[in-house]
Amino acid sequence: MKNPTLTQLQNRKSIRHFTGDAVSEEDLETIFKTAQRAPTSINGQQISLVYTRDKAKLQTIAKLCGGQEHIAEADVFVGIVIDFNRTSAIVESVGRNHIIEQSAEGIMVGAIDAGIMLSQLQTAAGALGYGTTAIGAVRKESESFIKLFNLPAKTFLALGCIMGVPTEKAKNAPLKPRVALETFVMQERYESEKVRQGALAYEETLKAFREQTGSGSMPTYEEITASYYADIYYRKTAQSLVSQGFAFKDE
Ligand SMILES: Cc1cc2nc3c(=O)[nH]c(=O)nc-3n(C[C@H](O)[C@H](O)[C@H](O)COP(=O)(O)O)c2cc1C
Repeated sequence: MKNPTLTQLQNRKSIRHFTGDAVSEEDLETIFKTAQRAPTSINGQQISLVYTRDKAKLQTIAKLCGGQEHIAEADVFVGIVIDFNRTSAIVESVGRNHIIEQSAEGIMVGAIDAGIMLSQLQTAAGALGYGTTAIGAVRKESESFIKLFNLPAKTFLALGCIMGVPTEKAKNAPLKPRVALETFVMQERYESEKVRQGALAYEETLKAFREQTGSGSMPTYEEITASYYADIYYRKTAQSLVSQGFAFKDE
């Protein structure tokens, strides 16, 4: 039996081409209400969303994210904010100091909850027929986003999500392949050699996909991962986290 949730999740893909039509206010509210049902660590609810559909701001965000034109083309940009300002309010109300943001654990909690929120937003928007793409490049110029969205201490814009009505072409585009399932999921124990072989084989898969789909500008696995992970690509993240009151003082 076909299951609509599985069908949707199995067909999810990033959408970077939009018709220019609007995400209705009613749908946006449904997406936000649905997103809020996401689980959060200790029910801390240390995530807030800040969004804009202001065209000039979308252009600014596109530029800040390294010239990602699809951001300017989208109807809505939603910023996913790690929000220890909220939890501080309640901790400080009982006369205690909120310090979790000064630890690797706090940063992990915030990043994990932000990722879950992204998934929930993408799923809710997708269920209503909208296209989305995650935008991690907001961390390229964190300080500018802090100003743009008026983010107080103990908050940090972890990532963004753009939304809009997908073009027919984008809707019908093929799904990007993944590494072989058996090199992604392992029973009982991690197998490093299998994972390595899977990564190397995936390079060929992605090359073939690029050829078949005529997506000449799409980087291969080797090209994209080496261009990012053989470098520390956003070099201001630590500095911006510190300026917002985050730190690594776990010991
Ligand atoms: C945390 C995160 C950050 C991302 N940042 C960007 C981004 O800044 N710009 C972009 O175009 N895509 C971004 N993506 C989308 C990925 O490139 C995309 O998910 C990946 O290529 C797989 O393609 P698919 O989503 O179509 O399956 C991001 C995805 C995630 C999960």
